[in-house]
Amino acid sequence: MARGGKGLGQLPDEDTRVRDAWRFYRETLGSPRFVCAPMVGQSELAYRLLLRKSGCDLCYTPMLHAEEFAGSSEEEMARQGFTTCAEDRPLVVQFCAKSPEAFLEAALQVQDRCDAVDLNLGCPQSKAMRGGWGGALMEEENWHTVYAIVRHAVSSPSLRVPVTCKIRVFADDRKTVRFAKLLQEAGCSLVTVHGRQRDRALHHAPANWQAIRAVREALRLPTVANGGVDAPGDAERCLQETGCVAVMVATALLQTPDLFLLPDAGVMQRQDGNQQNLQAESLRRGVRYCLQYLRIYEEYPSWSLRAARDHLRALLAPGCMHQGQLRHGDLLEALDAAGAAPRPASALHAEQKDYWQGVCQELRDVLKLLCVRAGLCGADDTTLDEFHWGTARTDSVPRALVVSCQPQLVIEGASKAQQALLRRAPVNKRFAERRRQQAAALQSCLQSASKWSRPQSA
Ligand SMILES: Cc1cc2nc3c(=O)[nH]c(=O)nc-3n(C[C@H](O)[C@H](O)[C@H](O)COP(=O)(O)O)c2cc1C
Repeated sequence: MARGGKGLGQLPDEDTRVRDAWRFYRETLGSPRFVCAPMVGQSELAYRLLLRKSGCDLCYTPMLHAEEFAGSSEEEMARQGFTTCAEDRPLVVQFCAKSPEAFLEAALQVQDRCDAVDLNLGCPQSKAMRGGWGGALMEEENWHTVYAIVRHAVSSPSLRVPVTCKIRVFADDRKTVRFAKLLQEAGCSLVTVHGRQRDRALHHAPANWQAIRAVREALRLPTVANGGVDAPGDAERCLQETGCVAVMVATALLQTPDLFLLPDAGVMQRQDGNQQNLQAESLRRGVRYCLQYLRIYEEYPSWSLRAARDHLRALLAPGCMHQGQLRHGDLLEALDAAGAAPRPASALHAEQKDYWQGVCQELRDVLKLLCVRAGLCGADDTTLDEFHWGTARTDSVPRALVVSCQPQLVIEGASKAQQALLRRAPVNKRFAERRRQQAAALQSCLQSASKWSRPQSA
Protein backbone atom coordinates (compact mmCIF):
# COMPACT_ATOMS: atom_id res chain seq x y z
CA MET A 1 0.00 0.00 0.00
CA ALA A 2 1.35 3.44 -0.89
CA ARG A 3 1.56 5.41 2.31
CA GLY A 4 3.51 8.45 1.12
CA GLY A 5 0.66 10.46 -0.26
CA LYS A 6 0.39 14.07 -1.31
CA GLY A 7 0.28 16.58 1.51
CA LEU A 8 1.59 14.21 4.21
CA GLY A 9 4.37 15.98 6.12
CA GLN A 10 7.52 14.50 7.60
CA LEU A 11 7.50 12.60 10.90
CA PRO A 12 10.36 12.03 13.34
CA ASP A 13 11.90 8.52 13.23
CA GLU A 14 10.12 5.68 15.02
CA ASP A 15 12.37 5.64 18.11
CA THR A 16 11.66 9.33 18.71
CA ARG A 17 7.94 8.87 18.18
CA VAL A 18 7.85 5.96 20.61
CA ARG A 19 9.77 7.95 23.22
CA ASP A 20 7.38 10.88 22.78
CA ALA A 21 4.38 8.57 23.06
CA TRP A 22 5.57 7.18 26.38
CA ARG A 23 6.38 10.67 27.66
CA PHE A 24 2.86 11.70 26.69
CA TYR A 25 1.41 8.69 28.56
CA ARG A 26 3.51 9.27 31.68
CA GLU A 27 3.87 13.03 31.92
CA THR A 28 0.83 14.50 30.20
CA LEU A 29 -1.69 11.85 31.14
CA GLY A 30 -0.05 10.96 34.47
CA SER A 31 0.28 7.19 33.81
CA PRO A 32 -3.45 6.41 33.99
CA ARG A 33 -4.53 2.82 34.71
CA PHE A 34 -8.31 3.23 34.82
CA VAL A 35 -10.03 4.90 31.91
CA CYS A 36 -13.62 5.95 31.20
CA ALA A 37 -14.56 4.99 27.64
CA PRO A 38 -16.06 7.32 25.07
CA MET A 39 -19.84 6.91 25.29
CA VAL A 40 -22.27 8.79 23.10
CA GLY A 41 -24.85 10.48 25.31
CA GLN A 42 -23.25 9.12 28.50
CA SER A 43 -19.64 10.23 29.01
CA GLU A 44 -20.67 13.88 29.18
CA LEU A 45 -18.95 16.44 31.41
CA ALA A 46 -21.00 15.92 34.60
CA TYR A 47 -20.60 12.15 34.50
CA ARG A 48 -16.89 12.45 33.74
CA LEU A 49 -16.47 14.65 36.81
CA LEU A 50 -18.29 12.06 38.92
CA LEU A 51 -16.05 9.31 37.54
CA ARG A 52 -12.91 11.32 38.20
CA LYS A 53 -13.90 11.57 41.87
CA SER A 54 -14.56 7.82 41.86
CA GLY A 55 -11.31 6.29 40.67
CA CYS A 56 -11.06 7.05 36.92
CA ASP A 57 -7.68 8.46 35.96
CA LEU A 58 -8.52 9.46 32.40
CA CYS A 59 -11.78 10.19 30.57
CA TYR A 60 -12.85 10.27 26.94
CA THR A 61 -15.63 12.49 25.61
CA PRO A 62 -18.47 10.92 23.66
CA MET A 63 -17.70 10.50 19.96
CA LEU A 64 -18.18 13.72 17.99
CA HIS A 65 -18.53 13.91 14.22
CA ALA A 66 -15.48 15.79 12.94
CA GLU A 67 -17.22 16.91 9.77
CA GLU A 68 -20.11 18.45 11.74
CA PHE A 69 -17.98 19.72 14.59
CA ALA A 70 -15.35 21.57 12.56
CA GLY A 71 -16.22 25.27 12.51
CA SER A 72 -19.01 24.98 15.12
CA SER A 73 -19.83 27.78 17.53
CA GLU A 74 -19.53 27.18 21.29
CA GLU A 75 -23.27 26.52 21.54
CA GLU A 76 -23.24 24.12 18.60
CA MET A 77 -20.33 22.24 20.18
CA ALA A 78 -22.33 21.91 23.41
CA ARG A 79 -25.36 20.73 21.47
CA GLN A 80 -23.21 18.08 19.81
CA GLY A 81 -21.97 16.90 23.22
CA PHE A 82 -18.77 18.82 23.90
CA THR A 83 -18.42 20.86 27.06
CA THR A 84 -15.53 20.81 29.49
CA CYS A 85 -14.03 22.72 32.42
CA ALA A 86 -10.69 23.13 34.19
CA GLU A 87 -11.14 20.08 36.47
CA ASP A 88 -12.00 17.86 33.51
CA ARG A 89 -8.40 16.70 32.85
CA PRO A 90 -6.72 14.62 31.60
CA LEU A 91 -9.19 14.46 28.75
CA VAL A 92 -9.23 12.83 25.32
CA VAL A 93 -11.74 14.12 22.78
CA GLN A 94 -12.93 11.44 20.40
CA PHE A 95 -13.94 12.11 16.81
CA CYS A 96 -15.14 9.98 13.99
CA ALA A 97 -14.04 11.21 10.60
CA LYS A 98 -13.68 10.10 7.05
CA SER A 99 -11.43 12.87 5.81
CA PRO A 100 -7.99 13.97 7.05
CA GLU A 101 -8.92 17.64 6.70
CA ALA A 102 -12.06 17.43 8.85
CA PHE A 103 -10.29 15.44 11.57
CA LEU A 104 -7.46 17.97 11.75
CA GLU A 105 -9.81 20.95 11.75
CA ALA A 106 -11.92 19.48 14.55
CA ALA A 107 -8.78 18.56 16.50
CA LEU A 108 -7.41 22.09 16.23
CA GLN A 109 -10.67 23.43 17.57
CA VAL A 110 -10.41 21.49 20.86
CA GLN A 111 -6.66 21.18 21.33
CA ASP A 112 -6.48 23.89 24.00
CA ARG A 113 -9.06 22.08 26.11
CA CYS A 114 -7.83 18.49 25.99
CA ASP A 115 -4.71 16.33 26.15
CA ALA A 116 -5.20 14.27 22.98
CA VAL A 117 -7.66 13.65 20.18
CA ASP A 118 -8.84 10.14 19.41
CA LEU A 119 -9.97 8.61 16.13
CA ASN A 120 -12.91 6.20 16.36
CA LEU A 121 -12.15 3.11 14.28
CA GLY A 122 -14.79 0.71 15.52
CA CYS A 123 -18.30 2.22 15.65
CA PRO A 124 -20.42 -0.63 14.26
CA GLN A 125 -23.65 1.29 13.61
CA SER A 126 -25.15 1.02 10.16
CA LYS A 127 -24.90 4.80 9.67
CA ALA A 128 -21.15 4.50 10.24
CA MET A 129 -20.89 1.65 7.78
CA ARG A 130 -22.89 3.59 5.20
CA GLY A 131 -21.14 6.88 5.94
CA GLY A 132 -17.61 5.50 5.63
CA TRP A 133 -16.45 6.33 9.16
CA GLY A 134 -15.96 4.44 12.46
CA GLY A 135 -16.15 0.69 11.83
CA ALA A 136 -16.24 1.20 8.06
CA LEU A 137 -12.59 2.26 8.24
CA MET A 138 -11.70 -1.25 9.47
CA GLU A 139 -12.22 -2.54 5.93
CA GLU A 140 -8.77 -3.17 4.51
CA GLU A 141 -9.58 -1.21 1.38
CA ASN A 142 -10.03 1.85 3.64
CA TRP A 143 -6.82 1.49 5.62
CA HIS A 144 -5.10 4.05 3.39
CA THR A 145 -7.71 6.60 4.58
CA VAL A 146 -7.02 5.70 8.21
CA TYR A 147 -3.31 6.14 7.61
CA ALA A 148 -3.88 9.49 5.90
CA ILE A 149 -6.17 10.83 8.67
CA VAL A 150 -3.65 10.03 11.43
CA ARG A 151 -0.60 11.05 9.47
CA HIS A 152 -2.11 14.32 8.24
CA ALA A 153 -2.96 15.33 11.81
CA VAL A 154 0.29 14.34 13.51
CA SER A 155 2.44 15.95 10.85
CA SER A 156 0.56 19.25 11.02
CA PRO A 157 2.74 21.93 12.65
CA SER A 158 -0.44 23.50 14.08
CA LEU A 159 -1.59 20.47 16.10
CA ARG A 160 0.02 20.43 19.53
CA VAL A 161 -1.75 17.40 21.03
CA PRO A 162 -1.07 13.74 20.17
CA VAL A 163 -3.46 11.53 18.22
CA THR A 164 -4.72 8.28 19.72
CA CYS A 165 -6.91 5.57 18.12
CA LYS A 166 -9.57 3.18 19.36
CA ILE A 167 -9.94 -0.05 17.39
CA ARG A 168 -11.80 -3.35 17.59
CA VAL A 169 -10.28 -6.77 17.09
CA PHE A 170 -10.68 -8.74 13.85
CA ALA A 171 -11.46 -12.46 13.80
CA ASP A 172 -7.81 -13.07 12.92
CA ASP A 173 -5.32 -11.72 15.49
CA ARG A 174 -2.68 -11.29 12.78
CA LYS A 175 -4.95 -8.82 10.99
CA THR A 176 -5.60 -6.91 14.21
CA VAL A 177 -1.85 -6.64 14.75
CA ARG A 178 -1.28 -5.43 11.16
CA PHE A 179 -3.96 -2.76 11.61
CA ALA A 180 -2.50 -1.60 14.92
CA LYS A 181 1.00 -1.47 13.44
CA LEU A 182 -0.28 0.70 10.61
CA LEU A 183 -1.51 3.18 13.23
CA GLN A 184 1.86 3.12 14.95
CA GLU A 185 3.57 3.79 11.64
CA ALA A 186 1.19 6.65 10.88
CA GLY A 187 2.22 8.44 14.09
CA CYS A 188 -0.49 7.44 16.59
CA SER A 189 0.62 7.80 20.24
CA LEU A 190 -1.67 5.35 22.06
CA VAL A 191 -3.94 2.55 20.89
CA THR A 192 -7.04 1.29 22.69
CA VAL A 193 -8.17 -2.18 21.66
CA HIS A 194 -11.77 -3.24 22.22
CA GLY A 195 -11.63 -7.02 22.40
CA ARG A 196 -14.89 -7.64 20.52
CA GLN A 197 -15.38 -7.79 16.79
CA ARG A 198 -17.41 -5.31 14.78
CA ASP A 199 -19.98 -7.92 13.75
CA ARG A 200 -23.29 -7.18 15.52
CA ALA A 201 -23.93 -10.85 16.26
CA LEU A 202 -20.78 -10.87 18.42
CA HIS A 203 -21.49 -7.72 20.43
CA HIS A 204 -22.28 -9.61 23.59
CA ALA A 205 -19.55 -12.17 23.11
CA PRO A 206 -16.81 -12.27 25.74
CA ALA A 207 -14.03 -9.79 25.01
CA ASN A 208 -10.94 -11.47 23.59
CA TRP A 209 -8.16 -10.48 25.98
CA GLN A 210 -5.67 -12.75 24.20
CA ALA A 211 -6.13 -10.73 21.01
CA ILE A 212 -5.54 -7.54 22.99
CA ARG A 213 -2.41 -9.10 24.43
CA ALA A 214 -1.16 -9.93 20.94
CA VAL A 215 -1.51 -6.26 19.93
CA ARG A 216 0.18 -5.07 23.09
CA GLU A 217 3.12 -7.38 22.45
CA ALA A 218 3.44 -6.28 18.83
CA LEU A 219 3.29 -2.53 19.47
CA ARG A 220 5.90 -0.26 20.97
CA LEU A 221 3.23 2.24 22.05
CA PRO A 222 1.17 2.43 25.25
CA THR A 223 -1.80 0.11 24.72
CA VAL A 224 -5.13 0.20 26.55
CA ALA A 225 -7.41 -2.84 26.91
CA ASN A 226 -11.18 -2.51 26.58
CA GLY A 227 -14.10 -4.90 27.01
CA GLY A 228 -15.15 -7.58 29.45
CA VAL A 229 -14.74 -5.61 32.67
CA ASP A 230 -18.11 -6.03 34.34
CA ALA A 231 -17.46 -6.26 38.07
CA PRO A 232 -14.98 -5.06 40.68
CA GLY A 233 -11.75 -7.04 40.37
CA ASP A 234 -12.15 -7.62 36.60
CA ALA A 235 -10.07 -4.54 35.80
CA GLU A 236 -7.01 -5.86 37.62
CA ARG A 237 -7.46 -9.26 35.98
CA CYS A 238 -7.69 -7.61 32.57
CA LEU A 239 -4.49 -5.64 33.17
CA GLN A 240 -2.69 -8.81 34.19
CA GLU A 241 -3.94 -10.95 31.32
CA THR A 242 -3.40 -8.40 28.57
CA GLY A 243 -0.28 -6.74 29.96
CA CYS A 244 -1.71 -3.36 28.90
CA VAL A 245 -0.81 -0.16 30.74
CA ALA A 246 -4.45 0.71 31.33
CA VAL A 247 -7.96 -0.63 31.11
CA MET A 248 -10.92 1.25 29.62
CA VAL A 249 -14.50 0.59 30.77
CA ALA A 250 -17.89 1.73 29.45
CA THR A 251 -21.04 -0.15 30.46
CA ALA A 252 -20.08 -1.17 34.00
CA LEU A 253 -19.25 2.43 34.92
CA LEU A 254 -22.80 3.45 34.11
CA GLN A 255 -24.08 1.37 37.03
CA THR A 256 -21.04 1.49 39.26
CA PRO A 257 -19.06 4.71 38.87
CA ASP A 258 -16.62 3.70 41.63
CA LEU A 259 -16.03 0.27 40.08
CA PHE A 260 -12.26 0.75 40.19
CA LEU A 261 -12.27 1.50 43.92
CA LEU A 262 -14.40 -1.45 45.02
CA PRO A 263 -12.95 -4.73 46.25
CA ASP A 264 -13.27 -7.86 44.15
CA ALA A 265 -16.93 -8.88 43.56
CA GLY A 266 -16.45 -12.29 45.25
CA VAL A 267 -15.13 -10.63 48.41
CA MET A 268 -18.08 -8.23 48.53
CA GLN A 269 -20.62 -11.03 48.35
CA ARG A 270 -18.92 -13.03 51.07
CA GLN A 271 -18.97 -10.03 53.41
CA ASP A 272 -22.77 -10.01 53.63
CA GLY A 273 -24.70 -12.99 52.41
CA ASN A 274 -28.13 -11.65 53.49
CA GLN A 275 -30.07 -11.06 50.27
CA GLN A 276 -32.38 -8.37 51.67
CA ASN A 277 -29.50 -6.41 53.15
CA LEU A 278 -27.63 -6.63 49.88
CA GLN A 279 -30.67 -5.39 48.00
CA ALA A 280 -31.23 -2.42 50.32
CA GLU A 281 -27.52 -1.60 50.32
CA SER A 282 -27.44 -1.72 46.54
CA LEU A 283 -30.38 0.67 46.27
CA ARG A 284 -28.88 3.00 48.85
CA ARG A 285 -25.60 3.01 46.93
CA GLY A 286 -27.48 3.75 43.70
CA VAL A 287 -29.33 6.70 45.24
CA ARG A 288 -26.09 8.09 46.66
CA TYR A 289 -24.48 7.93 43.20
CA CYS A 290 -27.52 9.74 41.78
CA LEU A 291 -27.34 12.48 44.39
CA GLN A 292 -23.61 12.90 43.84
CA TYR A 293 -24.21 13.14 40.11
CA LEU A 294 -27.04 15.66 40.46
CA ARG A 295 -24.86 17.84 42.65
CA ILE A 296 -22.37 18.05 39.76
CA TYR A 297 -24.99 18.17 37.03
CA GLU A 298 -26.62 21.22 38.63
CA GLU A 299 -23.39 23.09 38.03
CA TYR A 300 -22.39 21.51 34.72
CA PRO A 301 -25.59 20.61 32.88
CA SER A 302 -25.35 19.03 29.46
CA TRP A 303 -27.34 20.05 26.45
CA SER A 304 -29.37 16.90 26.64
CA LEU A 305 -31.44 16.26 29.77
CA ARG A 306 -31.89 12.73 28.50
CA ALA A 307 -28.32 11.91 29.51
CA ALA A 308 -29.13 12.78 33.14
CA ARG A 309 -32.32 10.72 33.21
CA ASP A 310 -30.54 7.76 31.60
CA HIS A 311 -27.75 8.00 34.16
CA LEU A 312 -30.18 7.96 37.09
CA ARG A 313 -32.05 4.96 35.73
CA ALA A 314 -28.81 3.05 35.12
CA LEU A 315 -27.44 3.91 38.57
CA LEU A 316 -30.66 2.80 40.26
CA ALA A 317 -31.13 -0.36 38.20
CA PRO A 318 -29.02 -2.78 40.29
CA GLY A 319 -30.88 -1.78 43.48
CA CYS A 320 -34.26 -2.09 41.78
CA MET A 321 -33.72 -5.61 40.44
CA HIS A 322 -35.04 -8.33 42.69
CA GLN A 323 -34.92 -11.98 41.64
CA GLY A 324 -34.91 -10.99 37.99
CA GLN A 325 -37.89 -8.62 38.40
CA LEU A 326 -37.74 -4.85 38.18
CA ARG A 327 -39.15 -3.13 41.28
CA HIS A 328 -40.26 0.50 41.56
CA GLY A 329 -40.63 0.62 37.78
CA ASP A 330 -43.26 3.36 38.17
CA LEU A 331 -40.74 5.65 39.86
CA LEU A 332 -38.06 4.93 37.29
CA GLU A 333 -40.68 5.96 34.71
CA ALA A 334 -41.46 9.05 36.74
CA LEU A 335 -37.88 10.27 36.26
CA ASP A 336 -38.94 11.04 32.72
CA ALA A 337 -41.66 13.37 33.94
CA ALA A 338 -39.09 15.52 35.72
CA GLY A 339 -37.57 18.50 33.97
CA ALA A 340 -40.39 18.94 31.50
CA ALA A 341 -40.62 22.71 31.99
CA PRO A 342 -39.85 24.79 28.88
CA ARG A 343 -36.17 25.41 28.76
CA PRO A 344 -34.66 28.88 28.58
CA ALA A 345 -33.09 29.75 25.24
CA SER A 346 -29.48 29.71 26.44
CA ALA A 347 -29.86 27.08 29.11
CA LEU A 348 -26.16 26.32 29.37
CA HIS A 349 -25.25 29.73 30.63
CA ALA A 350 -24.63 30.48 34.27
CA GLU A 351 -27.62 32.84 34.49
CA GLN A 352 -29.93 29.87 33.90
CA LYS A 353 -28.87 28.22 37.18
CA ASP A 354 -32.40 28.46 38.55
CA TYR A 355 -33.71 26.37 35.71
CA TRP A 356 -31.15 23.60 36.29
CA GLN A 357 -31.61 23.69 40.04
CA GLY A 358 -35.33 23.24 39.45
CA VAL A 359 -34.72 20.27 37.17
CA CYS A 360 -32.38 18.62 39.68
CA GLN A 361 -34.82 19.24 42.52
CA GLU A 362 -37.56 17.50 40.56
CA LEU A 363 -35.29 14.51 40.02
CA ARG A 364 -34.41 14.50 43.73
CA ASP A 365 -38.14 14.55 44.56
CA VAL A 366 -38.54 11.25 42.74
CA LEU A 367 -35.43 9.78 44.38
CA LYS A 368 -36.72 10.68 47.80
CA LEU A 369 -40.03 8.97 47.09
CA LEU A 370 -38.10 5.88 46.12
CA CYS A 371 -36.08 5.95 49.36
CA VAL A 372 -39.14 6.46 51.55
CA ARG A 373 -40.96 3.64 49.85
CA ALA A 374 -37.98 1.29 50.17
CA GLY A 375 -37.52 2.19 53.83
CA LEU A 376 -34.11 3.79 53.32
CA CYS A 377 -35.21 7.03 54.97
CA GLY A 378 -38.26 8.56 56.59
CA ALA A 379 -40.57 11.01 54.83
CA ASP A 380 -39.44 13.78 57.17
CA ASP A 381 -35.71 13.17 56.85
CA THR A 382 -33.90 16.09 55.30
CA THR A 383 -30.82 14.15 54.24
CA LEU A 384 -29.71 10.77 52.99
CA ASP A 385 -26.21 10.26 54.38
CA GLU A 386 -24.45 13.55 53.62
CA PHE A 387 -26.85 14.50 50.83
CA HIS A 388 -29.62 17.04 51.33
CA TRP A 389 -32.92 16.45 49.67
CA GLY A 390 -33.39 20.19 49.14
CA THR A 391 -37.06 21.06 49.25
CA ALA A 392 -38.19 17.57 48.25
CA ARG A 393 -41.76 16.69 49.13
CA THR A 394 -43.53 13.37 49.39
CA ASP A 395 -46.94 14.65 50.43
CA SER A 396 -47.79 16.92 47.55
CA VAL A 397 -47.51 16.80 43.80
CA PRO A 398 -43.99 17.76 42.75
CA ARG A 399 -43.39 20.30 40.03
CA ALA A 400 -42.45 17.55 37.61
CA LEU A 401 -45.99 16.26 37.64
CA VAL A 402 -47.62 19.67 37.46
CA VAL A 403 -45.60 20.64 34.44
CA SER A 404 -46.05 17.38 32.59
CA CYS A 405 -49.83 17.52 33.08
CA GLN A 406 -50.07 20.95 31.51
CA PRO A 407 -51.13 21.22 27.90
CA GLN A 408 -48.22 21.26 25.48
CA LEU A 409 -46.59 24.64 25.20
CA VAL A 410 -46.98 26.18 21.76
CA ILE A 411 -44.62 28.87 20.55
CA GLU A 412 -46.16 30.94 17.80
CA GLY A 413 -44.31 31.07 14.53
CA ALA A 414 -41.90 28.29 15.43
CA SER A 415 -41.62 25.20 13.27
CA LYS A 416 -42.45 21.79 14.74
CA ALA A 417 -38.78 20.98 15.05
CA GLN A 418 -38.07 24.30 16.77
CA GLN A 419 -40.99 23.74 19.11
CA ALA A 420 -39.62 20.31 19.95
CA LEU A 421 -36.18 21.72 20.59
CA LEU A 422 -37.56 24.47 22.80
CA ARG A 423 -39.60 21.96 24.78
CA ARG A 424 -36.78 19.41 24.59
CA ALA A 425 -39.34 16.89 23.41
CA PRO A 426 -39.81 14.80 20.29
CA VAL A 427 -42.80 15.82 18.18
CA ASN A 428 -45.25 12.98 18.33
CA LYS A 429 -48.49 12.00 19.99
CA ARG A 430 -47.15 8.78 21.46
CA PHE A 431 -44.61 10.81 23.39
CA ALA A 432 -47.34 13.04 24.87
CA GLU A 433 -49.37 9.97 25.79
CA ARG A 434 -46.36 8.39 27.46
CA ARG A 435 -45.78 11.58 29.43
CA ARG A 436 -49.37 11.38 30.68
CA GLN A 437 -48.85 7.76 31.71
CA GLN A 438 -45.68 8.66 33.56
CA ALA A 439 -47.46 11.50 35.31
CA ALA A 440 -50.27 9.13 36.30
CA ALA A 441 -47.71 6.65 37.67
CA LEU A 442 -46.13 9.40 39.70
CA GLN A 443 -49.49 10.61 41.01
CA SER A 444 -50.45 7.15 42.23
CA CYS A 445 -47.08 6.87 44.01
CA LEU A 446 -47.68 10.20 45.64
CA GLN A 447 -51.12 9.24 46.84
CA SER A 448 -49.76 6.17 48.57
CA ALA A 449 -46.77 8.13 49.86
CA SER A 450 -49.04 10.63 51.58
CA LYS A 451 -50.72 7.77 53.48
CA TRP A 452 -47.48 6.32 54.79
CA SER A 453 -47.22 6.91 58.47
CA ARG A 454 -43.90 5.07 58.64
CA PRO A 455 -41.49 3.72 56.04
CA GLN A 456 -42.40 0.36 54.53
CA SER A 457 -39.88 -2.44 54.63
CA ALA A 458 -37.98 -3.13 51.39
C1 LIG B 1 -23.80 3.98 25.89
C2 LIG B 1 -22.56 3.67 25.10
C3 LIG B 1 -22.05 4.60 24.20
C4 LIG B 1 -20.88 4.33 23.49
N1 LIG B 1 -20.36 5.30 22.68
C5 LIG B 1 -19.13 5.11 22.13
C6 LIG B 1 -18.45 6.17 21.48
O1 LIG B 1 -18.94 7.30 21.43
N2 LIG B 1 -17.23 5.91 20.94
C7 LIG B 1 -16.62 4.68 21.03
O2 LIG B 1 -15.51 4.49 20.54
N3 LIG B 1 -17.24 3.67 21.65
C8 LIG B 1 -18.45 3.86 22.23
N4 LIG B 1 -19.04 2.85 22.95
C9 LIG B 1 -18.30 1.59 23.10
C10 LIG B 1 -17.46 1.65 24.39
O3 LIG B 1 -16.56 2.74 24.36
C11 LIG B 1 -16.69 0.35 24.61
O4 LIG B 1 -15.77 0.19 23.59
C12 LIG B 1 -17.60 -0.87 24.66
O5 LIG B 1 -18.82 -0.61 25.32
C13 LIG B 1 -16.89 -2.03 25.36
O6 LIG B 1 -16.58 -1.70 26.68
P1 LIG B 1 -17.40 -2.31 27.93
O7 LIG B 1 -17.34 -3.81 27.79
O8 LIG B 1 -16.70 -1.80 29.15
O9 LIG B 1 -18.81 -1.81 27.80
C14 LIG B 1 -20.21 3.08 23.64
C15 LIG B 1 -20.74 2.14 24.54
C16 LIG B 1 -21.88 2.43 25.28
C17 LIG B 1 -22.39 1.40 26.25
